[in-house]
Amino acid sequence: MKITVVGAGNVGATCADVLAYREVANEIVLVDIKEGFAEGKALDIWQKAPINLYDSRTIGSTNDYSKSANSDVVVITSGLPRKPGMTRDDLISTNAGIVKSVTENVIKHSPNAIVIVVSNPLDVMTYQAHLVSQLPRTRVMGMAGILDTARYRAFLAEALNVSPKDIQAMILGGHGDTMVPLPRYTTVGGIPVSELIAQDKLNAIIERTKVGGGELVKLMGTSAWYAPGSAAAQMVEAIVKDQRRVLPVCIQLDGEYGIKDCYLGVPVVLGKNGVERVIELDLNAQEKELLETSRKHVKEVMDVLDKLPK
Ligand code: NAI
Ligand code: 2OP
Repeated sequence: MKITVVGAGNVGATCADVLAYREVANEIVLVDIKEGFAEGKALDIWQKAPINLYDSRTIGSTNDYSKSANSDVVVITSGLPRKPGMTRDDLISTNAGIVKSVTENVIKHSPNAIVIVVSNPLDVMTYQAHLVSQLPRTRVMGMAGILDTARYRAFLAEALNVSPKDIQAMILGGHGDTMVPLPRYTTVGGIPVSELIAQDKLNAIIERTKVGGGELVKLMGTSAWYAPGSAAAQMVEAIVKDQRRVLPVCIQLDGEYGIKDCYLGVPVVLGKNGVERVIELDLNAQEKELLETSRKHVKEVMDVLDKLPK
């Protein structure tokens, strides 16, 4: 198995590190446009192998995609991160150009790859990679829901003073303030969360989750990387090991949830073919309304991308 991670910055290098540490593939290639940067990060991760005891080989490349040839899965993290005061949508024109050229290079050398997009604005950059790659929709997806759900689960674990391992949850919709956390589908060791926490406290956690990315940008001056890199690696692992994990993933909807031609996070089964199946939840009226608000927001940003000079 061969995995390529494009962008050796904070998220990309973390993703490659987690993939190596968990021995998800025997070859992991890091590509970056900055001279020597990917080579350095790959060498550092490789030199950690004798300490952390793994044998996945990490290789770096400055923009030479021939090194990525025949990758099974490619993760795209290249692009500008958010700075304080910026929304994810502010990144669109710069990152659209980057994701376009990167996807062209990726597909030229790995025409059968499954592509996972991380660059922001996430839902629209997934659209961009899908447009450029012309791959089936089940093979081009975005990472955001696992991260958003992890933040929600971590906040809940803290509030309830229980292990985050025992919190199961699902967040739908776009990666932004319009995401749709689903308390009805949140359980703690199988117990509905509503039986363990007061509604006002749960509402506060939901609101904190929606701006969870912004909280970290304010603290660090740039966006997060440990949880995002690990979330992308979890998707890669589910595909490479054909685990058929049920995870929230951004994909082009084709009638599911009554939505067509829009990229949104929904629960899917992730396995060796990419998205094996989209799971449709029976949403109530309020949840449907929130998903519709999210759809409208993502569609507006998709329209901005459509109008950018090609
Ligand atoms: P970073 O600045 O640390 O790394 C980005 C890397 O991309 C840099 O090393 C840069 O040299 C490289 N790059 C730029 N243009 C390139 C090109 N044409 N080809 C190859 N490499 C290129 O940024 P960070 O923190 O790693 O974030 C990366 C992206 O991921 C950002 O757009 C950020 O907003 C997004 N992000 C998305 C999340 C999600 O949940 N989907 C979570 C966190 C970050
Ligand atoms: C995050 O949610 C900024 O999308 C990035 O951390």
